[in-house]
Amino acid sequence: TRTPVTVTVTGAAGQIGYALLFRIASGQLLGADVPVRLRLLEIPQAVKAAEGTAMELDDCAFPLVSGIDIHDDAVKAFEGANVALLVGARPRTKGMERGDLLEANGGIFKPQGEAINAGAADDIKVLVVGNPANTNALIARSHAPDVPAERFTAMTRLDHNRALAQLSKKAGVSVSEIRRMTIWGNHSATQYPDVFHAEIAGKNAAETVNDQSWLENDFIPTVAKRGAAIIEARGASSAASAASAAIDHVHTWVNGTAEGDWTSMAVVSDGSYGVPEGLISSFPVTTKDGEWSIVQGLEIDAFSRTRIDASVNELSEERDAVRKLGLI
Ligand code: NAI
Repeated sequence: TRTPVTVTVTGAAGQIGYALLFRIASGQLLGADVPVRLRLLEIPQAVKAAEGTAMELDDCAFPLVSGIDIHDDAVKAFEGANVALLVGARPRTKGMERGDLLEANGGIFKPQGEAINAGAADDIKVLVVGNPANTNALIARSHAPDVPAERFTAMTRLDHNRALAQLSKKAGVSVSEIRRMTIWGNHSATQYPDVFHAEIAGKNAAETVNDQSWLENDFIPTVAKRGAAIIEARGASSAASAASAAIDHVHTWVNGTAEGDWTSMAVVSDGSYGVPEGLISSFPVTTKDGEWSIVQGLEIDAFSRTRIDASVNELSEERDAVRKLGLI
């Protein structure tokens, strides 16, 4: 039998946690033959609720679950972790300025980065879901100097999947016929979903759709503002779809992208496509043997350039702000 993989989930009692844990436990994160040991991290006030979720996990009698531990201490929660899903974050509340938001999240992601540095397994892979995800990942990463920078990633897979869904509706094709979708930049309203390199049934997607007005005035804003539209409709933010994207992100990272396809992940920039080195920005990436690489050599036209730059500028501003606050 295989040794269990330790998966730490923060914000375990939250709504994404509730949608995520059962899918991890059922084998959808790492594979139907990989046993998992779950470590749930919550703040003290939410430990009881996390215990309730753990009771339900027990009641599912998932054969792959080899143990569930609940913690309110990050050091213990990340001990031996092979995969860390950082979901818990401080949401923006009314009247909160960006600086306050970044500072509050720094108070979460700095100690979590330190705890990962101190005790996670050598092969640790980190996905930050909690917003502002890219910058939270940057904060955690900068407090984990002994962990290779490429192990810290942030989630734009939900945006990627939203873009696939919108394009599939417009083109009247199944999502499985679409390849090479890209989200560039920040997981925020400035993100740039790029169909100029995407393909529908092997043909260029932008040319196939051939509707620039739809692209600019419908597709891009619909994808970028989908989170707000879900809140408006559901009265709560995206949870099951966010959990599903987190599953996809880690599954792809571990198991690889299909030949001829790529995915979107926010990863540390090596300066590719003019994105300043060190920023955690979304790129088209391929994955193989548990490692990602940024797809090279794509031609970026003026339309795309402007949009990528706008989102990357926002990331630079967030980095400057957390630097000023002493968080990195
Ligand atoms: P939620 O409020 O239902 O749950 C968050 C949980 O995190 C709460 O149970 C809270 O107690 C916990 N938490 C807070 N601080 C913590 C800490 N220091 N350690 C451990 N746990 C802590 O929120 P929900 O809906 O589950 O969303 C979680 C985060 O994911 C939010 O920041 C949200 O903005 C973000 N998100 C990101 C998406 C993306 O595409 N990257 C998509 C959707 C949501």
